[in-house]
Amino acid sequence: MRKLKVLGISGSPRKGNSEYLLRHAMEAAQSVQPEGIECREYSFHRKAMGPCIACGYCEKHGGECSVKDDFAGLRELWLEADVVIYSVPVYHMSMPGQVKCFIDRLGNSLFGRYKHLFPPGEESLPKLMKVIGSIAQGIHISSGQEHTLTDLINHALIMQCVPVTGDMWHSYIGCGGWTSNEIDRSALQNQYENQQFDAIIAVKSARDVGRRAVETCFLLQEGIRARREMLAPDPVYKPLLDRICPA
Ligand SMILES: Cc1cc2nc3c(=O)[nH]c(=O)nc-3n(C[C@H](O)[C@H](O)[C@H](O)COP(=O)(O)O)c2cc1C
Repeated sequence: MRKLKVLGISGSPRKGNSEYLLRHAMEAAQSVQPEGIECREYSFHRKAMGPCIACGYCEKHGGECSVKDDFAGLRELWLEADVVIYSVPVYHMSMPGQVKCFIDRLGNSLFGRYKHLFPPGEESLPKLMKVIGSIAQGIHISSGQEHTLTDLINHALIMQCVPVTGDMWHSYIGCGGWTSNEIDRSALQNQYENQQFDAIIAVKSARDVGRRAVETCFLLQEGIRARREMLAPDPVYKPLLDRICPA
């Protein structure tokens, strides 16, 4: 049986609080079925991720991007994954620019990559149906976590994926953490180890997001396998079926 692939993406340029919450989410994801899940973590630390330059190259070259940096490596990991968990620091009440750069380029380049599936003029994005969970980590309370989570949920929807949250009441639309005005990269870990209430909630919420994302994906994939015949004639499902249950 194919293992479920879970990709955790830490969107911080440093190895800090976002990565700490991601690690909890990934541990919880793995624990759902240790032998049936393959977890992989990716960090934006020391990565170069420039913006889309709107050159149109990807449209004509099978989705390849003309900007040569770390984009293609992460794109391939993202495409292989069944579950993606983003853990991003809040920057200016949203996600860091480098994460947005990746998302912008991913969305546009996939039109070019999957163009061959559709008749000319009817290009679309295939229904990839990955499950996407989100964590947004800030320094203050109510300082952009929900905006950031909403941006990631919108990204999931645009990419024809399925956004999930954790459990009520800790995770309304994803995990939102804060470090009580501490800037240190280990702030959240220290606060958690000192049993600070908000840090405990952030960790619980991150773990819920990881666990529920994997559970949802297992359920979804059972349905996809059961309904393969119904889905197969529609090209919009081809990359999904090739990934989960190839002919
Ligand atoms: C450029 C920049 C902008 C930031 N903007 C916000 C913000 O709008 N809201 C907030 O809560 N924290 C903001 N922060 C703080 C980080 O989100 C916070 O320190 C977080 O814990 C960093 O995560 P990391 O340790 O994974 O890098 C900002 C930090 C930087 C460097």
